[in-house]
Amino acid sequence: MTAPALPRKTLGGLAVPPLALGSWNTWDRMDPDSAVTMIRRAVELDAGFFDVAHYNMGPHAENSRTDILFGEALRASGVDRAEIVLCGKLWLWDWPNQSFRAQLTESLERAGLDRFDTLVVGDYMAEPDVARIVADVNELIADGLVGGWGINNWRIGHTRAALDAAASTGLVGPSFAQLKYGIARRAMAEGAAYGPLFSDGALALQASDVFEGGILATGLAPQRKIGADVGGIRERILALYPEVARVAAGFGVTPAALGIAFCLAHPATANVLFGASRLAQLEQNHAALALVAERGSEVREALAGLQADVEVKDDGSW
Ligand SMILES: NC(=O)c1ccc[n+]([C@@H]2O[C@H](COP(=O)([O-])OP(=O)(O)OC[C@H]3O[C@@H](n4cnc5c(N)ncnc54)[C@H](OP(=O)(O)O)[C@@H]3O)[C@@H](O)[C@H]2O)c1
Repeated sequence: MTAPALPRKTLGGLAVPPLALGSWNTWDRMDPDSAVTMIRRAVELDAGFFDVAHYNMGPHAENSRTDILFGEALRASGVDRAEIVLCGKLWLWDWPNQSFRAQLTESLERAGLDRFDTLVVGDYMAEPDVARIVADVNELIADGLVGGWGINNWRIGHTRAALDAAASTGLVGPSFAQLKYGIARRAMAEGAAYGPLFSDGALALQASDVFEGGILATGLAPQRKIGADVGGIRERILALYPEVARVAAGFGVTPAALGIAFCLAHPATANVLFGASRLAQLEQNHAALALVAERGSEVREALAGLQADVEVKDDGSW
């Protein structure tokens, strides 16, 4: 399918492609040539937004080399840096003991980069010092190491506090929320807690974990580690797969493309971040762009009854 390009939306002032590629369990499951091909093709398919994280802390103490491998493949690809968006990640698990500056510097060095366009500040278990987070991220912005930032699955009160702290001090606040969002898991992205921030444009939405690590793309639970199961609803999500596959067939796309189209049809979605470990997956997933452009509201209607997290809190307090 040749997809018409969707108009680009903005995320922190950046016009971003509608599709974004994750780095968790992806580049380290590809051979180097495949990674180069994937990066080049991503740029052609409106997926030239790359999430680049150093997985070395807290629940992600995996010490994966995926970010290093991405950097090597990016350099080998010859892709123009100005054509892509690079998004870094800062962890709160051991912050401020491991400062944002130290984390970002290490992350840039590992991937062989000089700057991220934006970054995501991850989730937390202990109460975060939000005003200090805002100040610390802004030091990195002031030094030109990153252009802006967003939050990942934060509780709504902390997100609002960050926006308020930035507004009252003239600093740069978070411009987007990376939330778990997909056909079955909608509570946070569509609920009343984050809703007003999306509808008034205070935040853009970046959908992530959209296939539940692959479950909603294949109907199979991967053996590798996948994202957290907020609310303990994975069995229910797995059971929804046959219906998702049936609806996808009706639209003439794969379940994965349907899942991305569903997220893109949310008015606040700036882009959809997914993992792809093979080129064929990226090619298939790109069909979501044509689908949402031509039949976005039909997609939403066809999937209306498939939410699995109605009882899960929408404010991020898991
Ligand atoms: N906000 C959060 O809570 C959260 C949680 C998890 C991840 N993330 C972020 O989101 C990014 C993506 O998450 P993720 O990779 O863990 O999960 P995901 O995007 O839900 O799933 C990715 C997996 O789905 C499968 N897949 C993709 N396209 C497919 C297709 N067309 N056909 C069949 N299978 C397909 C692949 O599995 P195989 O490789 O096994 O084929 C792929 O690795 C991560 O890199 C991370 O940055 C955020």
